[in-house]
Amino acid sequence: MKILVLGSGAGGGFPQWNCNCRQCAGQRLGGLTAHARTQSSIAVSSDGESWVLLNASPDIGQQLRSHPQLHPRQGLRNTPIKAVVLMDAQIDHVTGLLGMREGPCIDIYATPCVFEDLTTVFPVLSVLEHYCGTRWHMLPVAGTETSAAFTVDGFASLRFTAVAIPGKAPPYSPHRREQTVGDNIALLIEDLDEGARLFYSPGLAEVGAHELEWMHGADCLLVDGTFWVEDEMQHAGLSSKTASEMGHLPQIGNDARIGMVDVMLATAARRKVLIHINNSNPILDEASVQRRMLDSHGIEVAYDGMEITL
Ligand code: MLT
Ligand code: MN
Ligand code: ZN
Repeated sequence: MKILVLGSGAGGGFPQWNCNCRQCAGQRLGGLTAHARTQSSIAVSSDGESWVLLNASPDIGQQLRSHPQLHPRQGLRNTPIKAVVLMDAQIDHVTGLLGMREGPCIDIYATPCVFEDLTTVFPVLSVLEHYCGTRWHMLPVAGTETSAAFTVDGFASLRFTAVAIPGKAPPYSPHRREQTVGDNIALLIEDLDEGARLFYSPGLAEVGAHELEWMHGADCLLVDGTFWVEDEMQHAGLSSKTASEMGHLPQIGNDARIGMVDVMLATAARRKVLIHINNSNPILDEASVQRRMLDSHGIEVAYDGMEITL
């Protein structure tokens, strides 16, 4: 299985267009050792020819342009992207669908909650009906069904499992205040030929026994790296929201909950990688003590263009 990180940043990317915080300004002016990052999306493939997009970022144009693997191959108009799987209905994960409107009808795999948000409060899919159109593949994660195995047409050797996880529906969703099964999913992707498994969860609010069980079988974890600590945005004067209010488990825990670093260390995954890094997170600074701590634990920080082969 080949994994291509198209965007490793959280909503807003890094540096964020309107942000003058130490990190964004430092990256822009060159005083900080840190790479710019576009907004969250990855692509997976079993043969390196056809790709499934996991989330479609607002930065999709730049992301597709800068990765030759995703350029058109044969014929006048063409794309190696055969389908899109959505983890949620957040702006940074779905807006890129609009950037695919010049292509063929888009095969979209998502839960009922996500299809609902994207045809009502944030009607991206309704809009696309006037362009390329979309074909819906319903992932039956809803009600009492908390996981669903599925395949993506054309990717016979990859077995996907959508897993309901704790998270937040977008601010515009009717479910924002009361989480509903299917608002947020993680994906376990298994390459049946190679036997390799990826656990992908760019937005994960909490890790309990249920989540740990799914993470345990993975060779590679590619998980929520949004915040280092719970009150990071407040502390930097950037926002009044905490990590929990936004549906993200910080890397360092507190009395209330275990942090993502300890979660990762409790698994046997060969590769432990953080993704969806917010511009406020000190791990973006490659010279930071926080980054050194991750290094010492063998935890990697995803970057745009990172390739992982499992
Ligand atoms: C989030 O995951 O909380 C988002 O990155 C927020 C956003 O897109 O603005
Ligand atoms: Mn996000
Ligand atoms: Zn900033």
